[in-house]
Amino acid sequence: MKRCARVIGSGGYLPETIRTNEDISKLVDTSDSWIFERTGIKTRRIAGENETAASMAEIAARQAIEMAGIEAGEIDLIIVATGSPDRVYPSTGCILQHRLEIQQCVAFDVQAACSGSIFAMSIADQYIKSGAADKVLIIGSEICSRLVDWTDRSTCILFGDGAGAVLLESTDKPGILSTHIHSDGGFEDLLYCPNPQVATASAKDEKGVITMKGNEVFKVAVNTLGRIVDETLATNNLDKSDIDWLVPHQANTRIIAATARKLKMSMDQVILTLENQGNTSSASVLLAFNEAIRDGRIKRGQIVLLEAFGAGFTWGSALIKY
Ligand SMILES: CC(C)(COP(=O)(O)OP(=O)(O)OC[C@H]1O[C@@H](n2cnc3c(N)ncnc32)[C@H](O)[C@@H]1OP(=O)(O)O)[C@@H](O)C(=O)NCCC(=O)NCCS
Repeated sequence: MKRCARVIGSGGYLPETIRTNEDISKLVDTSDSWIFERTGIKTRRIAGENETAASMAEIAARQAIEMAGIEAGEIDLIIVATGSPDRVYPSTGCILQHRLEIQQCVAFDVQAACSGSIFAMSIADQYIKSGAADKVLIIGSEICSRLVDWTDRSTCILFGDGAGAVLLESTDKPGILSTHIHSDGGFEDLLYCPNPQVATASAKDEKGVITMKGNEVFKVAVNTLGRIVDETLATNNLDKSDIDWLVPHQANTRIIAATARKLKMSMDQVILTLENQGNTSSASVLLAFNEAIRDGRIKRGQIVLLEAFGAGFTWGSALIKY
């Protein structure tokens, strides 16, 4: 019998504090109208000083476990996607495993920037298909606000904090139909976050903050996401009209609208969380997916396309029969 990975639970967490565009306009020379028109963002959440990627991941994970109706101890594998881990090591996955009081499972992190949750889903899918795991918890959890330079108006307007979770289980029915992940390290200089503590002597003075040539990233993102849509549809021998929902990475409404146009989809079929969450990097796709599952927009049997693009560059998609 062919094994497939099916979504059996999801969860999401957003920190309490809301930072509005007006709040940011008191820090840098910008305005609510500029930010909203260029990005689609109005507010974002900012983690409290005692919160971490692992603490937020735990809340999202517990929701997914509860929805699935399983015990945490049944999980075989935890994959956490994060670019803002609690510690260099142990991995946020291991910290989360301990928080969930799971004694025996494998836990690790993946680092693929904003594409992290798609990379995690792709790895989980391979583990389940091969029979190496039956139940896999994937998480995207980020405290972007601590990696942002709050004096740089070109980046600080964009990012927010949060965590999303999905629990996958092996089944013989359709679930994840295919995943597609790609990397091209040649674009490092367009979007990066230095790690000064382990940098070479010449890079020691760089600040550990997100640095981006937004305009150039924008152009590559639109073209690349167009190509991944074609690749995903061709692999599954599907037509654009077969997709019920698009769950995109939430970086910029104009990038998302371009992908929707490519799919000939109305924006009503796109799950958008950007306006009140900003770009939560690896958390964004899972947060949006969870929201639409919980509010009943995404229904069992529907075809859902998840996609993301991020630093590296990295990009990917997952096509799911929910
Ligand atoms: C960042 C982004 C919103 C900027 O929008 P843009 O339309 O490309 O704007 P530009 O960078 O070309 O800047 C246009 C002008 O606005 C100014 N500007 C930049 N940020 C500003 C801000 N927050 N408020 C007001 N003006 C701003 C620039 O200085 C520039 O001024 P100039 O024309 O006098 O030089 C957009 O490029 C973007 O979303 N890029 C992709 C981001 C992304 O996807 N990143 C992550 C991938 S995961």
